[in-house]
Amino acid sequence: MDIQREAQKLIKENRRTTEGHRYTVPSAGHHPYQWLWDSCFHAIVLAKFEPEVAREEIRSLLCKQFENGMIPHIIYWTPGVLHRFPWGVEGTSSLSQPPMLAYTVNEIHRNDPDKAFLREVFPSLMKFYRFFIDERDARNVHLVGIINPDESGEDDSPRFDAPLGVPMDVTYKEHLAKRTELVNANREGYFDVETGGRDSFWVKDVPFNTILVENLRILAHMAALLERKEDEAYTKREAELIAGAMRTHMFEEGVYWSVMGTTHKKLKVHTWAHFVPLFAGLYSPEEAEHVIETHLRNEDTFKSPFGIRTVSRVEPAYRASTEYFSWRGPVWFGPHWFVYKGLVRYGYLDDARWVHDVSAELLERNGFRECFNPETGEAYGAKKFTWGCLVLDMT
Ligand code: GLC
Repeated sequence: MDIQREAQKLIKENRRTTEGHRYTVPSAGHHPYQWLWDSCFHAIVLAKFEPEVAREEIRSLLCKQFENGMIPHIIYWTPGVLHRFPWGVEGTSSLSQPPMLAYTVNEIHRNDPDKAFLREVFPSLMKFYRFFIDERDARNVHLVGIINPDESGEDDSPRFDAPLGVPMDVTYKEHLAKRTELVNANREGYFDVETGGRDSFWVKDVPFNTILVENLRILAHMAALLERKEDEAYTKREAELIAGAMRTHMFEEGVYWSVMGTTHKKLKVHTWAHFVPLFAGLYSPEEAEHVIETHLRNEDTFKSPFGIRTVSRVEPAYRASTEYFSWRGPVWFGPHWFVYKGLVRYGYLDDARWVHDVSAELLERNGFRECFNPETGEAYGAKKFTWGCLVLDMT
């Protein structure tokens, strides 16, 4: 398969224009809307071939930014779907997703420098990152919380079983019902984080906070380019405060763990989240070596013939197969991309090459599918799903 040609073809096929806004749907059949971190993935790839389309993908996201700075994780772009809630915008969800926007905008600028575009989007980006820092860290501990597993992008990951109160053998449908209940409860509670912190789902997740740290650093770099000294100082400071708090509250036994509650109780489920801190350089070189040797290269736990298991095979919650799509074990291209970048950052080029090659093989074998059985390579979920295009950015 000519991956580059097929990826470019797919990303074009999934392009939509609604009310003059251009964006890409992850899968026409299964996910026919615009998603926040998916759009970042699309724009990272588009930046290489069609930077103007990448800029439009970002503009479409930003035009639905809420007054408080949040950018919703789904924009339905469908007249029939009207979710209106107190501070929302019409036609969107009430949750967000991992904040990859600054990284993405920087990638577009790196591929096709355009300072006017940076200047145009910078205020919205600042507002977006400030939203998490101001509204999602009620007790000022410098860790940002998510209010629903969907905000992590890993909807049914077993990292969230305990805080969500679901059993290990929960079915996909039961899980979805529980998350939907949570969305409704949050809407009724007007997203009061203090109340949420006490009674409801409120998790400080490792990937989310890692992505935030790296993106704040990139935002600081952008602020410097635009000579916005105060914004530069603020974003730099916040990035290091979060990195420090992650070290204090999340690091144990050589890896980072997501935490919940005021006591920062560690959610001790071994998932690919152990590898995400490599993306932001949060491990020392010795720690990175340990994580890679003990976990990433370990065939009994994470390393499968078809890629990196999203959950360690020895976890009781591990499930290789799924009826729909699942974050309880299957291999995904998004995690592969984050791990690839992290490995390159630390100079583990052979391991990074393996992540690339195994991803390319999945595409050859199954085409652009959503996720894969780590033991058999069988494909699940959406068809013509865009995340496989990220292989083009594993360079
Ligand atoms: C699924 C994934 C989520 C993604 C969405 C759209 O819900 O878990 O990460 O953003 O599909 O592709």
